[in-house]
Amino acid sequence: MTVIGTGYLGITHAACMAELGYEVLGLDINAEKVRQLNNGELPIYEGGLDELLRRGLESGNLKFTTSFQEAAEFGDVHFLCLGTPQVGGGCAADTSQLDAAVEALAPHLERQCLVVGKSTVPVGTAERLAHKLIDLAPSGAAVDLAWNPEFLREGFAVKDTLSPDRIVLGVRTEAAEKTLRDIYQPLGDIPLVVTDFATAELVKVAANSFLATKISYINAMAEVCEAAHGDVMALAEALSYDDRIGRRFLSAGIGFGGGCLPKDIRAFMARAEELGAGEALSFLREVDAINMRRRARAVDLARELAGGSLENCAVAVLGAAFKPDSDDIRDSPALAVAKAIEQEGGLVSVYDPVALDNARKAYPELSYAGSAIEAAQGARVSLLLTEWSDFTELDPEEFGSVVAARNIVDGRNVLDPVVWRAAGWNFRAPGRP
Ligand code: UGA
Repeated sequence: MTVIGTGYLGITHAACMAELGYEVLGLDINAEKVRQLNNGELPIYEGGLDELLRRGLESGNLKFTTSFQEAAEFGDVHFLCLGTPQVGGGCAADTSQLDAAVEALAPHLERQCLVVGKSTVPVGTAERLAHKLIDLAPSGAAVDLAWNPEFLREGFAVKDTLSPDRIVLGVRTEAAEKTLRDIYQPLGDIPLVVTDFATAELVKVAANSFLATKISYINAMAEVCEAAHGDVMALAEALSYDDRIGRRFLSAGIGFGGGCLPKDIRAFMARAEELGAGEALSFLREVDAINMRRRARAVDLARELAGGSLENCAVAVLGAAFKPDSDDIRDSPALAVAKAIEQEGGLVSVYDPVALDNARKAYPELSYAGSAIEAAQGARVSLLLTEWSDFTELDPEEFGSVVAARNIVDGRNVLDPVVWRAAGWNFRAPGRP
């Protein structure tokens, strides 16, 4: 099989399929990335993936190329794992990488094969690409297409790929269904939903929209708690004992970010609008707005602790990644808050255990430190914005010994306010008294 596109999804899928014993050829148009991967260097931080990549390369099951011709000759099945970012200046998803990959691959498809889309796409994309493949491939209708969305979470990518909650197959032929069932058979008894293209495409954005809604729901409760002097943490705990609600994705804080949730809800709204079903998803606009307000709230809390102005205030920011156990800073709430504080005149020093290189490239105007303690030297306000375990385990006395003032915003609601206040800290957190 081939895996076209070696981003988060592609590298993980390729390495996991090689681990299952398949012969896998990964393809990327970025020659430097292909060189790195062939040398066993992982261009992203993802626990356990480096080991799988090395094992795949050593066994000979896994290799990488830039050649679409080689991929077309090699593969019986071609997985499309291209990125679909938000278009510049709009909300829709940009599917140009997918289109470009299909246009580059199809002219080399001389025999029967199955192309399998895994990317998150606007509903209708699979139908369009199926026509494109048939039009452009020399083997024409012998090229079948299926849509098989991916649900992996960064930080758990390998586990989510090898033990997924479910497998969704959007197929048009029994042959495609059989091929994919056979491919995933080694994963064991995983719930499998076989459906049409449109439903398979929709499942993915529906799942991410639900998760985003859950987070914004609890963050909306946090806003009300702030107005009413309630405590969102106790509220979430009380809600969680109802099995129908549960506790997962009910952590209030500075909201969701990353390369998926924010852009997926926007792309979903944009596509629904095109289909004349925009009204059905108008609540997602509110989900997005609540989420963005949480970032502003963290800045408000920092400003209050600074005595009303952040101008020339030394501020320690703990966390740059959009969530822990990842070096991904795409739409990171932590960096958005850091940047907003800097724009108000704050002197921001950021530390993150793995995302510093990425953060430096994207926000060269911020200052960076080599440790949490270094970032906190002389800080008048500290903010915990990504809940890395290094930060949740911070000792308030040790941390307090280097700051200029014991003021902290716990943007992720992971510290114990009783312990921190007992150590003399002014402690503020979203949704808490
Ligand atoms: C998300 C989905 O969870 C995956 O199922 C999906 O496959 C993936 O997007 C994708 O579309 O590829 P991911 O972006 O890795 O995965 O991150 P999540 O774990 O969902 O977290 C998203 C954001 O929500 C993070 O910024 C996190 O800090 C925030 N979050 C999460 C909260 O603010 N509160 C919570 O209770 C949970």
